[in-house]
Formats: sequence, structure tokens, C-alpha cells
Amino acid sequence: MDSITIKRPDDWHLHIRDGKMMEAVLPYTASVFGRAIIMPNLTPPVITAQDAVEYHERIMAALPKDTQFKPLMTAYLTDNTDPDDIAKGFQENAFVAVKLYPAHATTNSAHGVSDITKVDAVVKRMSEIGMPLLIHGEVTRSEVDIYDREAVFIQETLMPLKEKYPDLKVVLEHITTSEAVDFVKAADDTVAATITPQHIIINRSDMFRGGIRPHLYCLPIAKREKHRLAVREAAVSGHKSFFLGTDSAPHPIGAKESSCGCAGIFNVPAAIETYLEVFEEERKIENFEAFASLNGPAFYEMPVNEDSITIVKQDWNMENEIVIDETTSLHPFKGGKTVTWKVQ
Ligand code: NCD
Ligand code: ZN
Repeated sequence: MDSITIKRPDDWHLHIRDGKMMEAVLPYTASVFGRAIIMPNLTPPVITAQDAVEYHERIMAALPKDTQFKPLMTAYLTDNTDPDDIAKGFQENAFVAVKLYPAHATTNSAHGVSDITKVDAVVKRMSEIGMPLLIHGEVTRSEVDIYDREAVFIQETLMPLKEKYPDLKVVLEHITTSEAVDFVKAADDTVAATITPQHIIINRSDMFRGGIRPHLYCLPIAKREKHRLAVREAAVSGHKSFFLGTDSAPHPIGAKESSCGCAGIFNVPAAIETYLEVFEEERKIENFEAFASLNGPAFYEMPVNEDSITIVKQDWNMENEIVIDETTSLHPFKGGKTVTWKVQ
């Protein structure tokens, strides 16, 4: 196969930050994807409907006037989030979903939820109005091993939550374990998961291959090979509950290559291509369109994008460094390596 045409894909999990960084990274997404779920973990976070409206305006101002790209806004859930503001924001399309960060689970999550019972009124309302809850599924207790945090979260928090609110629509974000795959497969169609390119390409040993590799550090952290294989199988299976979410998360090179490096991988410059390489390796190219362009809209009850993109079999070299300004550069996923597909 030397080219493939699919309905224009969407990215159901994306960090674009704000200001200069946003202006620099947004074109990579807007040139390929029709829509993207914009994660709200700014400093300060996007908490209210008004915050989301203002962030949406800044994003649109950074895009060309005639852009077809549509940012889908989310609310950052805190212990003090007002259920009325969330419901009103959803009805008025200020945001499409709420993001749950357990406090201190990841980058810019200090304002996150300290205990799921504190947000019960918000979750109850979301369940009633059909608003999806997007979950960073990791417990944060320091005594729980970092490699076990996703599996423990599913047991301790997610299963009881879904038992209490069976109608609540949930996306378990950036899954990394066979436990997460099993949970999603066993659930009904109120439950889905996003899958990143890195979690189907690298395992935890790759983070230490020949020395420590800070640019492969993201959260949830890459797991053992058996987990990579389970998530990879789920991604390429075409199963309707698994769809594309890059979790592209730009951090300046200096913040990654540090004695205390930030979590997050900047992968959008070759996201579609690297996903497609996996589908090709697994001989499942026929399921690529479902994963990239169909399953997400079905879960979010949105139309599939009308136009298409074509990706051709063509080698090109991903640059090592993408310059943002005089002091800031990014190292993209696959930087310095050959990518074997190219979006036309
Ligand atoms: C994300 C970021 O940098 O905003 N980092 C990451 O490692 N994935 C936050 C997140 O999604 O956990
Ligand atoms: Zn993320």
C-alpha cells in the first residue's frame, strides 16, 4: 500500500498551552486534524465557562481567519467547581467535557481534585446531562508504585464511580495498561479510552536505553512490554471504544533535560504518521480510519468530519529541535529519526 485516504481525523486529547508556545504548536494540529479536545491544565487552569470562552478566543485568534479547525474546550475540575456553571457551560457549548486530574498526578495538576467524593455534585449533574468526564486515571498516594498507579486507580476510584453513576460518560485518558484495556472492553458504550502514539511504541525499558531518556518521560509513565502490547492490540483492533488522543504535551528542552524534568511528550509533528506506522506493522491498516476518525465522534455524539486526508508512503526526517523563540526549543517525538509516512 503506498497511500491511504481517510476521513479527516480528530485529536481527542491535546495540550497546546498558551501565548507564544500555543502559536508555535497549534499549526501542527490544525493542518491535519478537524477538531481537538483542548486540555485545560494551564497556569492558572481553565475552570469556569468564562475561562473556556476566553481561552477559545485566544486559540481562534492564533489561527488563520479561514481555518476549518475546531478546538473543543474542557473544564478543569477542582474541589470547588460549581455544578451550575458546568451545566450551563455545556448547554451553551463553552465546553464539551470536564477533565479530572487527581491533585498532583501530573503537570499543572496542583488545583486538581483531592478526593472524588468532593466533586460528587458535579459528577451527578454531568451524569444527568450526558456530559463526558475525561479522567487522568492515576492514584497519587506516594506509597503506590508509579507503575501501579493506573491499575490501582481503576480498582479504587473508577469502578466505584461507574457503579454509582452507570450512565456517566467516561473517557479513560492515555491508557497504558492491560488492566485499562480490560476495563474498557468489559464496560458498555458509556466508557471509552484514548491512546497516545508513545504508549503503543515505547515501553519502560526504552526510557533507560543506553542512558536516561527524558524526552520519553510522560505520565502515565510507559509500562512493561506486555502492557504496551495490550494497548497496541486495542488501538489497532478497530473496537469502537478506543480512539486517537495524542496527549501531545510540549515542554521546552531545558525543562525536560533537567535534574527534575517535566512529564510530557511533544508528538504532533508526526502523530498521524507514527500511529499509521503501528497499524501498518500490525497489518491492521483497514482499522486506521475507525481509530483516527470515526470512533471518537461516535462517542462524543458529533458528526464525522466531511473532508478527508491522504497519507502517502514516503520517508522524511523528523527534525531534532523545533525553535519557538530565542530561548525556547522543543524536541519532538521521533526527533532525529526517519518517519515513513507523510500527510499530503
Ligand atoms: C501532560 C502535560 O504536560 O500537560 N503531561 C504528560 O506527561 N502527559 C499532562 C498529562 O496529560 O498528564
Ligand atoms: Zn494530557
